[in-house]
Amino acid sequence: MAKVGFIGLGIMGEPMCLNVLSKGHDVAVYNRTRAKMGTLVAAGAKAAASLADLVHRSEVVITMVADPAAVRDVVTAKGGLLSALSPGTTHIDMSTVSPETSREIALLVRGTGADYLEAPVLGSRQAAIDGTLTVLTGGDADLSRRMEPLLLAMGKQVIHVGDTGMAAHMKLLINQIMGTVLCVFAEAALTGMEAGLPADKILEAIQCSAAACPAIRAKGKDMLGERVFTPNFPLKHAWKDMRLALEAGKAAGIPMPVTAAACALFGAAWDKGFGDRDVSAVLRGLTDN
Ligand SMILES: NC(=O)c1ccc[n+]([C@@H]2O[C@H](COP(=O)([O-])OP(=O)(O)OC[C@H]3O[C@@H](n4cnc5c(N)ncnc54)[C@H](OP(=O)(O)O)[C@@H]3O)[C@@H](O)[C@H]2O)c1
Repeated sequence: MAKVGFIGLGIMGEPMCLNVLSKGHDVAVYNRTRAKMGTLVAAGAKAAASLADLVHRSEVVITMVADPAAVRDVVTAKGGLLSALSPGTTHIDMSTVSPETSREIALLVRGTGADYLEAPVLGSRQAAIDGTLTVLTGGDADLSRRMEPLLLAMGKQVIHVGDTGMAAHMKLLINQIMGTVLCVFAEAALTGMEAGLPADKILEAIQCSAAACPAIRAKGKDMLGERVFTPNFPLKHAWKDMRLALEAGKAAGIPMPVTAAACALFGAAWDKGFGDRDVSAVLRGLTDN
């Protein structure tokens, strides 16, 4: 069992951390908004007084925060991880960030003598609760293997995809596909409904077709029905991933007209105030109804 420090107890981080705790690891937690530490502390985790305090209590420090800026804050801010990491400690970043951010953080962390592993996840809140995430790792393969028992407290499988930055690439291309699929689904289904097709028939027929996919299965009913948009995967993070995917395309010299159009739809939904609602609220980029 390891001494684990967990930073970022949001929609994903809280259930992931609960699973680490439930496997018997010695867990300390830190969250910028301290009130969100309550559930973990009630379950037996120790509340760290600061980021440095958390590092001093830990052999492995896990971050699961919003975006590249948040990871940089946690790592480089005064009193952040860099002020306390030392040889023998491992930092695992499970947030979805750009490959460049991952490489930059890896250099900084390794500069302290600590180890660094990137480990973004596939699967949303329910998989985080169930401990059935897929963890993509990038970096040293031996380190990934050594961290596997801990990662499997949160997931059902670990896939080592290559050097540092490659797991971020893999995660982003998957979210790029999912985000774009939801946009074209919204356009096509709204058009069908306007023409008189019932929503339930559209969903039933799609799931019997070559266009069937888990994203539509998970989000389609709410998008075409009540439109509650309960935030399992906040639209602001999905939009961030679309923007990061466009950056990756630019760096690779691959034109991305489809992703750019989908990204604009995410921006339109965000402008209307749906940033904290679920990714499925991208439909609001098309219609106010
Ligand atoms: N939700 C999903 O379905 C899903 C699935 C796979 C991957 N992801 C990725 O996983 C990460 C976390 O997602 P989430 O859905 O759990 O997001 P979330 O609920 O918005 O939680 C974000 C966490 O990051 C912290 N944070 C944000 N900015 C910070 C800063 N500048 N300094 C320190 N902490 C900061 C927040 O702290 P506060 O509480 O103080 O705001 C919170 O703990 C994101 O990178 C997301 O893209 C999400």
